[in-house]
Amino acid sequence: MSVVLIKGARILGGDPVDLVLRDGVIAELGPGLRADGATVVDADGLVALPGLVDLHTHLREPGREDAETVYTGSRAAALGGYTAVCAMANTSPVADTAGVVEQVYRLGQEAGLVDVQPIGAVTIGLAGERLAELGAMADSAARVRVFSDDGHCVSDPRLMRRALEYVKAFDGVIAQHAEEPRLTEGAQMHEGEVSARLGLTGWPAVAEESIIARDVLLAEHVGARLHVCHVSTAGSVEIIRVAKARGVRVTAEVTPHHLLLTHTRAESYDPVYKVNPPLRTDADVTALREGLRDGTIDIVATDHAPHAAEDKECEWAYARPGMLGLETALPIVLDVLGDQWDLIAERMSRAPARIAGLDNHGHDLKVGAPANLTLIDPTARWTVEATGLASLSHNTPYAGMTVPGRIVATFLRGVPTVLDGKVQK
Ligand code: DOR
Ligand code: ZN
Repeated sequence: MSVVLIKGARILGGDPVDLVLRDGVIAELGPGLRADGATVVDADGLVALPGLVDLHTHLREPGREDAETVYTGSRAAALGGYTAVCAMANTSPVADTAGVVEQVYRLGQEAGLVDVQPIGAVTIGLAGERLAELGAMADSAARVRVFSDDGHCVSDPRLMRRALEYVKAFDGVIAQHAEEPRLTEGAQMHEGEVSARLGLTGWPAVAEESIIARDVLLAEHVGARLHVCHVSTAGSVEIIRVAKARGVRVTAEVTPHHLLLTHTRAESYDPVYKVNPPLRTDADVTALREGLRDGTIDIVATDHAPHAAEDKECEWAYARPGMLGLETALPIVLDVLGDQWDLIAERMSRAPARIAGLDNHGHDLKVGAPANLTLIDPTARWTVEATGLASLSHNTPYAGMTVPGRIVATFLRGVPTVLDGKVQK
């Protein structure tokens, strides 16, 4: 087993300290450490965070290996500072059986760069008609605890209630893509003044808010855990705030793009800005940032959604929704929140690990903790290049943007997955 000696890292931005990583854990921590035969990593000026955890990643395997694979997505994740990602179920075939989730889990282990935790579908084929084999997926080698039809809403309230009841037995969670489908038929972008001007069919805020309002009531009634994917409106933040105050077991995520970009981007008709839920207004962005700061929104999740050029570089109406996220998430969050390292660690590592039930992730960097961590140069600024990213697809909305924060190194169970900004496999 390799031994790593990290010299002078600033844990959560604190005073410089040395760390020895041995046998998968942080074995020693303190000033002036030595370790014979260790790989030495000079972390002068670098900030150390617990390895990031993404609760919402689309890896596209099986089915669309031309857009991303478990291996290429794992590379992108490691380069983004992640040590664990939860793989969404909307693959082809859909991850709605023990067989498919075990396949994705195994592919993640073979890639060996991040822990890939499969998410199981709530309904068979994401069709919203019959519950998938939730128990078999939970009992499988993949140990699924998060279930989601993401890309689709579980819109049938009776089915949603049953799903919540089912997962309550093993403390699972239903992660809802909140979109009332009857209110978003043909929708192309946020419904508002820009959609009216551009003549594009609108996706109204109430389509999200009405499902969240219903689901927090169902979660309260059942006493089960609900997680709300990619919250995008001020009204949704308000509903979740009230639900939490009532003691409902609800958690919520926001994406980096919803924290930064607005619907005016659609004026370019560049489909790289097409995403579901759509980019919203300045007032929504302000409310999302406030919700993230005050804890109404528990986590940042990427919704990393790679798409092949043929599906993205076409007319707006035909383009698939979704944006890359793994390699730019931390820089965008740093841009939005500033260097509030403890808050960033909470929203991007500890809380997502807790929600997903990933016991080996999201730990404070202390002696005995799993050696899952990332080193960041907070002073470095870099310009995003679509073809410079590790993802197989190139649909980043940040191309040409200069962002703060470079991920220099990442360690999974003490083994470097990224060193000097380069992936190790
Ligand atoms: O923009 C999105 N892309 N939203 C989703 O809900 C699904 C995702 C995808 O799979 O591409
Ligand atoms: Zn979604």
